[in-house]
Amino acid sequence: MDRFAIVGGKPVEGVVNISGAKNAALPAMAASLLTAERVVLRNVPRVRDIGTMRSLLDDLGVDSALTHEEHGNRLEIEARRLVNPTAPYELVKQMRASVLVLGPLVARFGEARVSMPGGCAIGARPINLHIKGLEKLGASINMEHGYVEARAGGLKGAQFTFDTISVTGTENLMMAAALAEGDTILENAAREPEVEDLARLLNKMGASIEGAGTDTLRIRGAAKLHGADHAIIPDRIEAGTFLVAAPLTGGHLILKRVEPAHLTATVSKLSEAGAAIREAGPNELEVEAGGPLRAADVVTAEYPGFPTDMQAQYMTLMTQAEGAAVITETIFENRFLHALELARMGADITVNGRRAVVRGPVRLSGANVQASDLRASASLVLAGLAAEGETIVDRVYHIDRGYERIEEKLARVGARIRRVSES
Ligand code: EPU
Repeated sequence: MDRFAIVGGKPVEGVVNISGAKNAALPAMAASLLTAERVVLRNVPRVRDIGTMRSLLDDLGVDSALTHEEHGNRLEIEARRLVNPTAPYELVKQMRASVLVLGPLVARFGEARVSMPGGCAIGARPINLHIKGLEKLGASINMEHGYVEARAGGLKGAQFTFDTISVTGTENLMMAAALAEGDTILENAAREPEVEDLARLLNKMGASIEGAGTDTLRIRGAAKLHGADHAIIPDRIEAGTFLVAAPLTGGHLILKRVEPAHLTATVSKLSEAGAAIREAGPNELEVEAGGPLRAADVVTAEYPGFPTDMQAQYMTLMTQAEGAAVITETIFENRFLHALELARMGADITVNGRRAVVRGPVRLSGANVQASDLRASASLVLAGLAAEGETIVDRVYHIDRGYERIEEKLARVGARIRRVSES
């Protein structure tokens, strides 16, 4: 298992190219199951979850080909036939987003068998709303032997209101409804940019989706969808992670290939905490410490609120800020595992349920820490950059799931970080 060895205390300075968004590329890959024609995806990040989704497509009998382009990968997918409608436990347990194939499979092929994801390090994360919504569209669902089995002899448009806002739930139903007969209205839908990006792709494929980016989606089903060519949006969480790295280390970064409009909540919170961030050009953000960092409370929320996927990285920043910051996590019930690891590096953090209080500034000291999930690992890498001495971050396979060679990107801007591989 690989680990990172980081020697902290050096400001990061330079230019970082932001990759395509993993959480937009995954649903786009699932959407390619909706047509027999070729779907070309560009700006696909070179991360492990994309490989896992390719393995899943391969298991289903779908061909995909990956080529490197100057920025990101180009992925061609042609779902001419389905050999097997099953998303097996081995893949779903590695990546919950595997559930995204459920809607497209049942809509196009009339059957899907997807392993139930089970628990997760950050919370229970049920998929009841994906299932309820598909039932509303006319699928019959059976749960047996740990699998969700969905069948339909043609889905029919319907009205469905999400009890809780769900990103992949919205994506799954949007994809299913795109091939259903008649109109579907999804209410209390997720407004995340990744949902909007999927709607753009589906519309290029011949679907008719209105309202993406709002909480009400209107989808007019099509009998058939066709191929498309689509560039994935930039990764707003990777960008947010680098926006933290600069003020945290007293450095200065220029982020290229970003979409500032997707980063409003993050930029505004980091600015409140003392970071100086400005648009340096089209799709560019410049960030540096604008003076001493100050504690600023934050509450995670669905988009356009402050992303739960930035909560861990923000917690690391708050260890270096003057005062007490209250961080409230509203999306997942157990997303503070990184707090315990940060405490081992000297952070002063008290966790009570969904609330954490971080008191700073403290001197972080390098230690051996363990990554528990993707964003938690990012917070530990950041902490390592700010800490005195050497930090070893273990289990970096978590970070490889969603960050494209983060150690190379950080090393290029001066960080002393290296990957240690165990054979
Ligand atoms: N929920 C339900 N029932 C459902 C679905 C969700 O109760 O059927 C609850 C969840 O338990 C959670 C809340 O609704 O409390 C929101 O979960 P959501 O379904 O929106 O999360 P997700 O779609 O599984 C995506 C991202 C996550 C990100 C969340 C929240 C992808 C592939 N994953 O997950 O990304 O944290 O939205 O923004 O898009 C990450 O990249 O590190 C990551 C975890």
